[in-house]
Formats: sequence, structure tokens, C-alpha cells
Amino acid sequence: MYRTHTCWQLTWKNAWEAIVLSGWVNKVRNLGGMTFIDLRDRYGITQVTYDPSRHTFPLPDLKSEYVVKISGTVVARPDSMINKDMPTGEIEISPTAIEVLSDCKELPFPVDHEAPVGEDIRLEYRYLDLRRQTMKENIIARHKIFTETIKFFDEENFLHIETPAFVKNTPEWSREFVVPARFEPGKFFVLPQSPQQQKQMLMVAGMDKYVQIARCFRDEDPRGDRQPEFTQVDFEMSFVEQQDVLDITEKYFLAVSKNIFPHKTIVQEKFPIYTWEQMMNDYGSDKPELRTKEFTFKDLTDRAKKTDFSLFQQAAVVKAIALPKALSRSEADKYETFVKQYGSKGLAWLSMTSEGLKGTVAKFITPEVLAELPGKWEGEWTLLFQIGEREDVVKYLGMLRTKLLQDFNVLKGKENEVSFAFVVDFPLFELGNDGSLGAVHHPFTKPKDEDIPFVKALGKKLREWGNMTDEEKTKLLAIKADCYDLIFNGNEAGGGSIRIYDKELQHAIFSLLGLSDKQIQERFWHLLKCFEYGVPPHWGCAFGLDRMVMLYQNMENIREVIAFPKNQKYRDLMIDAPGQIDENLLKELGLAVIKKE
Ligand code: AMO
Repeated sequence: MYRTHTCWQLTWKNAWEAIVLSGWVNKVRNLGGMTFIDLRDRYGITQVTYDPSRHTFPLPDLKSEYVVKISGTVVARPDSMINKDMPTGEIEISPTAIEVLSDCKELPFPVDHEAPVGEDIRLEYRYLDLRRQTMKENIIARHKIFTETIKFFDEENFLHIETPAFVKNTPEWSREFVVPARFEPGKFFVLPQSPQQQKQMLMVAGMDKYVQIARCFRDEDPRGDRQPEFTQVDFEMSFVEQQDVLDITEKYFLAVSKNIFPHKTIVQEKFPIYTWEQMMNDYGSDKPELRTKEFTFKDLTDRAKKTDFSLFQQAAVVKAIALPKALSRSEADKYETFVKQYGSKGLAWLSMTSEGLKGTVAKFITPEVLAELPGKWEGEWTLLFQIGEREDVVKYLGMLRTKLLQDFNVLKGKENEVSFAFVVDFPLFELGNDGSLGAVHHPFTKPKDEDIPFVKALGKKLREWGNMTDEEKTKLLAIKADCYDLIFNGNEAGGGSIRIYDKELQHAIFSLLGLSDKQIQERFWHLLKCFEYGVPPHWGCAFGLDRMVMLYQNMENIREVIAFPKNQKYRDLMIDAPGQIDENLLKELGLAVIKKE
């Protein structure tokens, strides 16, 4: 037998019991002839004390991370030796036998404490990294969210249904990973970006409440909150309206927060609902940090027109962020350099200092304009302005807000607050860098009812004869979608939408997205065909499970909450992948590798 107990189980109640423990040597200390061994397993640590004057068997050579089996007796520690910080701190083990099950080479980094270690080396030896406490806690938190999710949706009468991992290339959002089909050389499966179409077909199949903890794959540029393969809590419901989906989302996140993270404070249990327009106007982001209202934008367009500053007078929009202190010229320059790197032309600023007004626009501010500035204008303050078209102004100020929140450490002390909010009424389309239209959520999202006739008519026109006019494009870009995002502490935790279930409308959307009839037929015939067989109205949504764990666990990036993630260049350093494959396999698959110049 390897163990009778785990290393986090024995207390004074077990005193004088004979036990067996197995685990890793966390630490060995020699003090005054005695040897103290901290034995560790997944659950915790138990101290074993070897006293050569009492223990007659020879102590084997023990080093960090050796795997050992220790038989012995539980002994209550004297009061002065009790360690109140750990449940096993009341006892120690008096060993009767210590057997080394496996030794361990010198470690590439210590695992018994959290000394900072470079990420690549951690990922190469991930099995060692996972022995460290924070990583272990992250993996346990992930497991708890996983099981709570299954339980929650089961109680709400959802069916967990698995969908395939080999599907067809149907451009939805991002680039797909390709899987060659050996039986049909030259043909390919792709890995799903999400189970979007299958879950819609499950609604047609009558499975009115579907959920899946689903693995998704997207070949997009690396970022801290992205992995090429990640996990979604994916669900879909028939015969519901937006409020039903918001309600179930809210109930789910309250259940996860309260049952798994009871030490967290939920800022608003009734999740507020904001429009996308509102968020962009006030924060320049569709996922602003809402644990604080600090650095919300002030719209000064009207007041700015009353100054003598021509740029202010002519600007479509003037917005500013107010700081509760006067900035020096060099500090203001630093923020100007910051916004300029994203493309802003500059950063006008105004500071009230003990010596009066300073800053690039100080000379244009008359006492009358000053008197009209909004807010609490006492003591020292600064306004940092962006001037120009609305989209640019809010974009640069949004980035500046994020930077200021960090620089002024505004979130300090709010680490255990969770703020949820819904953002609704996103635009249906957005312009890509090449001027083409893309779907903001995805192409299966329904436009608002009032815009459907226009969308259908324009789709039909495009199919029959050619291009859309600039005016039509502008009108399309203003159309809002029936969709929502859930934001969680300034991150997009999930998103969903009402689905199109009208074949003609779906076809029109594909046409507006630039697909020819032939491409639509090739790529989406299965969906359009399915829409001919009795489709219930349906809504659905998906949350990023990895992001949820990251946010609840206050981690900097999602790699910290995934057992075996890819690094920032999307390599798996532990198994050294991607790698080359055998020539014969390539032949069998009918593939040839063309070397890039
Ligand atoms: P969407 O594309 O918004 O919606 O994805 C839903 C959520 O998945 C998470 N996520 C990611 N997490 C880690 N790495 C990535 N590369 C990554 N991409 C997305 C985010 C995101 O909010 N099928 C639709 C949902 C629906 O309409 O039902 C979808 O996938 O947290």
C-alpha cells in the first residue's frame, strides 16, 4: 500500500495511528542531528521527523523532489512546536521505514516556493511548474468551475452534447487550423473555431437547451488572453428572448462566484446593461474596466468651441480625461508619446497648478470657459484631451484610460471585486483593413428587426447586379445587431446573439460579407438546407472558460490557467511542437511542403 492518508489530512485526532504516506520531498532540513522532511502531495505537506537516537533504520539519501513512501506513527507535537498555519501542523510523523520510490535530477527551477522563473523554462518543464502552489491552485479552480458549470446547466435542464472536432472550412471569424483527409487527398477538415453551426443545428433537432464545455481552435495572432486552442462554456437555447439569455448568464456567474469564490465581492448582483454606443462614448472600449468610474471621459465639445483655440473650434469631438493632480510637462509628454504610438496626432493638456493654469491649451482658456468645466474643480487637476473624429478620439482616450488606471494604481485593493456588465446593441458589421465588411459577432447574428428589410433588399441587389454604394455601406455600418457581450473586470468573458433562422436573411448577410452564391452554396449549404426543416427561434452564447479562470484567479494571462498551453509564439515547448512529419506520411496525405522564401 502506498498511502493510508494524504499529506493534508492527519491531525492530533490521528495521534498514535500507524500510517503510510507517499509523496515528494518538498524540503529536507538537518537541525542538531535531527532530520526534518517536508513530504508533499497534491493536497499539502506533512512533516516527518527522523531522530537517529530513536530511529534505528538508516535514513536514505533524500533530496528535493525525490518520491518516497514513508511508514510511521502520528505523533502530536508539543504546544510550542505547533504550526497553526497548516492543518497538519499539530502533528509530525515518527517514521518506521522510508523507501525511495524514485529519485530526481537537479531541478531547472525550485518548485517548493514561488521564486520568479522565466516562462519558457516553466513551459518546457510544465510538469514541474504544475507542482508549484499557484499553478496547482489555478488548476483546481479550473476544475471547480468546470464541475460547477456541468451541475448548473444540468439543474437548468440543459443537455451536454459533444460536437465534432473535425469540421468543414466555413470562414466565420478567424483563420482555421487544417487537418488533411487521408482518404481524400487534397481535401481537408478544419478544427472548429466554435461549435456555432452544430449547436444551431441541435436547435433544429429539437434539443432546445444545449451546453458544452467545448474545445475551440483559432489560428489568430497571440495575445495574453488568447490561445490557439481554448475552452468555451458554450450554450444555445430555443424559444427564448434576450432577457432569458441574460438571466441565465447572470444566474450562472452568480453561482460560480458565490459557490467557488465566496471571498469575492460582486460589485452589482443585478448585472447592469449598457449599450455599445454608451461604452464607446464614455470609455472608448466595448470592455471597459468598470470596477472604477475613474477616468471616464468628459465630453467638452461644446465648451471647447468657446475657446480661441482653432483646433478646438473646428473639431467634431473634444473629449478629455480628468486627473486629480497637476502634471509636469515631462509627465504630459510621456502620455503624449503613449497615445502617439497608436496613431494619435498628439495630446493637448491643461493643468491647474498652485501657480495657475499650465499646459498646451492654457493660453486659450478664458475664466468663463474655466467656470463652465464640469466636475469637482478644486485644488490641482489635469485634463488630457483628444480632438478629432469620434472614433479616433474615443479609441486613443480608451487606451490612455487603461494606462492611467495602471499608473495611478487605481485597482489596488479591488483585486477581490468582480464587476460584471452586459454590453448590448453592437454594430452588425465592421470595416476590415482592406475596406471589406466583416461581421462584428459572427455572420449568424440577427440584425435589429427594423433593419431586416434593408439588409434583405441589399443582399438581393448584390446577388443580382454588383456592388453597393458608399451610402449603402455607411447605412450598413450603422445597423445594430441583436447580440451581447458579458464583460468581467475589463475583459470580454463571453458573447452571444439571436440567430438568424430565416434562410433569405442568412443568404443576404453572406452576400453582404462578400461571398458569392457559389461560395455560399459550397460552404454553408448544410445550414441553409437545415433552415428549410422547421427552425425554432434560438439564442446562444459562449464564455471563455480559460478567461474566466484567469480573471477569478487574478492571473496576468490565460497560459497560467491552462495545464499545457502554447507559449507566446504558439509553440508547445514541453513536447517541442509543431514539428516536421515523416515524408511517407506526407505522401500518404498527398501533401508537399513548399519552403517559404
Ligand atoms: P466568441 O468568438 O465571442 O463567440 O467567443 C466566445 C468567448 O470565447 C473566448 N475566446 C477565447 N479565449 C481564449 N483564446 C481565444 N483565442 C479566444 N477566442 C475567444 C472569449 C470570448 O468572449 N460561437 C460564438 C458564441 C455564440 O454566439 O454563441 C463565439 O465563439 O472569452
